[in-house]
Parts: sequence; structure tokens; C-alpha cells
Amino acid sequence: MKQSNILVTGGAGFIGTNFIRHLFRNVGFEGRVINLDKLTYAGNPMNLADIAEEYGDRYVFARVDIVDRDRVARLLDDHEIDIICHFAAESHVDRSIVDPGVFIQTNVVGTYALLELARERVDRVRHFHHVSTDEVYGSLESGGYFREDTPYQPNSPYSASKAASDHLVRAYSATYGLPVTISNCSNNYGPYQFPEKLMPLMIVNALEGKPLPVYGDGRNVRDWLYVTDHCRAVWTTIEKGEKGRTYNIGGRNEMPNIRVVETVCDLVDELAPPLGNGKPRRSLVTFVKDRPGHDRRYAIDCTRIENELGWTPQESFETGIRKTVQWYLDNPQWVDTVRSGEYQRWIRTHYGNAASET
Ligand code: NAD
Ligand code: TYD
Repeated sequence: MKQSNILVTGGAGFIGTNFIRHLFRNVGFEGRVINLDKLTYAGNPMNLADIAEEYGDRYVFARVDIVDRDRVARLLDDHEIDIICHFAAESHVDRSIVDPGVFIQTNVVGTYALLELARERVDRVRHFHHVSTDEVYGSLESGGYFREDTPYQPNSPYSASKAASDHLVRAYSATYGLPVTISNCSNNYGPYQFPEKLMPLMIVNALEGKPLPVYGDGRNVRDWLYVTDHCRAVWTTIEKGEKGRTYNIGGRNEMPNIRVVETVCDLVDELAPPLGNGKPRRSLVTFVKDRPGHDRRYAIDCTRIENELGWTPQESFETGIRKTVQWYLDNPQWVDTVRSGEYQRWIRTHYGNAASET
């Protein structure tokens, strides 16, 4: 597997960037990595500038939309791709509520386009791994966990589009014998996450002394997994996963949002200069109007990947969140870059000036 040529879609985004780093830095990947990314507001090719410099033509970046079949086909053929690892997606629930169309286009039509191209090359493409989310299973109100056989019940346009793409991938395996695996993972956090998702938004606002908008009562629960653990799980699935099978990935780390936000506040207080008014950052917490259709609780049973493939999370929440806060403190330039231009315009168009305060 390490000698393959792999197409990574969405490799300029949060998880894709960490995955490509993981391949070169930890796996000892020996083949060629083609990073195919449209560069929406969420993609930044400079995330991998050091990899591009160090690995020369073993790392190739191509700005391409996954829906553009001709250009994707050329990349698959020119680089003799034998593994496709599909991360590219529109990924933010709040954006999907305001503007679902692009989610259908990229997540559903885009995945269909890739599947068709893989099907036409089934003699050469020996693995298609589809990266998905636990949000396809819907909301757990109290007890219980999402298992791989939990019925799908997506509640947001984002999770519905991911559910549709999962079903297509599964169908291409059953109908055409495409060698696929699917992984459904819980909430990731770590370096390079665009500061619109909960954790990086709270870190950046806490640093800047801005309000920390917590939706509803702050008691919604998510399971948190450090991004490198997710990347290890994806590579383990590509190496050892059974074709046609789904694997749930999670951190066994359920937490109400308010606890995540308070932990961020305490770490920023510890690691950064104090606020001008001398108050602790917890004073910035602002409860705002809830997200429509807000799922109450996600929790993953990841026994299958643990037992069958030998994967377990390595990073604890305490060490992972500390590393993450430190990374954002060390990289203000990255935050400035990704927040400029397109993102700012989008926020202004849809929300006016006070982005999340409603
Ligand atoms: P992200 O939004 O940070 O990155 C997505 C990347 O895809 C960006 O670089 C963007 O430019 C690219 N992209 C978007 N549309 C494209 C298109 N049409 N063609 C080519 N490239 C396109 O997302 P992320 O958090 O890194 O998530 C990656 C994948 O993991 C997604 O499929 C997401 O559903 C899944 N996932 C994410 C999480 C999480 O907590 N972030 C958890 C589970 C699963
Ligand atoms: P998010 O990072 O958007 O991920 P997802 O919706 O895919 O789980 O949100 C994580 C949780 O944090 C979710 O319950 C919504 C909540 N949230 C806030 O309370 N405030 C915010 O500003 C954001 C972005 C999210």
C-alpha cells in the first residue's frame, strides 16, 4: 500500500491536510500523493508548502473541482492512481442551513462523479475510501451509541448530503463491485481547522477578547477526536479494512459544548496574555439563539475498528486541546490568511457584521 499512488480529494482542507502530513511524516508513504482540491474558502494549499518543498514530484497539488470529470480523469490517468481517499466536501452545518445547494453539488454530485471515474478504472483503482461523518445517524437524545448498523436519520442539509454520498458509495460496491470502504467519524479538532467550527472559533475569539457564541443552552454533546487519530484510522482502514465495510471512528470522549468552550477559555488564559479588563475569558461566553434542527447528542461506538483493525485513539482530550490551543497561538498569520477575502465576504453577505450573535 505504501508504494501506491494516492489521490486525496480535499487535501487543502483541515483533515485532508493533516492526512497528507501523516502519510509523509508518520506512515513513510513511498508513492505519489496527488492533492486535488477546488480551494473553496476552506482550502489553503500553503498548509502543505513544506511537504511540497521536501518531497518534490512525489507531492502534486491540483486545483480541480471534483465535479469536473474530464480534469479528474486526466489526473487519475496521468498519475496512475490506484487509491482514492475522498475527503473533499462542504463541511459546515451552519452554511448548509443558509445555502444547501453547494452541499448537494459537491457532496452528492461530486461523489457520484468520482465513483463513476473509479468504476471506469476498476482494473486499476484498487481502493476507494470515503470519509464521512457520524452526523448521518441523527441525534441520540440520551443513552446509546451510534453503531455501524444504526439507521441513518440525518437532520441538517450537510448530514443529509453526506448520507446520500455514503449510500452511493455503498451502492457502487454492491452493484459494480467497486472496492470501497467508508468511515463515519465524530467531531475532529486540531491544527489547520477553519475558524468557523466550534473549537477554533472559540480559541480565536477568546484570544481577541470577542464574544464566544454558544448555541442554545450549551448542553449539546459531541464526541471529540484529535485529527491525527482520525488520519491514522483512515490509513488503517485503507491498509486493512474489509472491502464493502463501514467503520465508525470516535474518541470515546463525549462532552457538552459548554465544557469545551470553558476548557478553551482556561487554556487561553493560561497560555496567552490576559484580557485588557483583567477578567477571565469565561466572561466572554454568550448564549445565543439555537441552531435550527440542532442535534442534541452524538456518541460513537468504535468497537468494530478497534477489534477488527486494531486502531485506538492515542491522544487524550487534555493533551489534544492543549496542543490545539498552542498551535493557534503560534500561527496567527495562518488565521489572518484564511479569514481574509472570500470568508469575510460570505459572512457579511449572510449575517451582516456580527456573525454569530443573534
Ligand atoms: P474542510 O471544509 O476543512 O475541507 C474541505 C476541503 O474540500 C477544502 O479544502 C475545500 O477546498 C475542498 N473542496 C470543497 N468542495 C470541493 C470540490 N467541489 N472539489 C474539490 N475540492 C473541494 O473539511 P474537513 O473538516 O477537513 O472535512 C473533510 C471530510 O471529513 C469531509 O468529507 C467531512 O464531511 C468529513 N468529516 C469531518 C469531520 C470534522 O469534524 N471536521 C468529522 C467527520 C467527517
Ligand atoms: P461545529 O463545530 O459546527 O460542528 P458540528 O455541527 O458538525 O458538530 O459545532 C460543534 C457544536 O458546537 C455543535 O453542537 C454546535 C455548537 N456551536 C456553538 O455552540 N457555537 C458556535 O459558534 C459553533 C460554530 C458551534
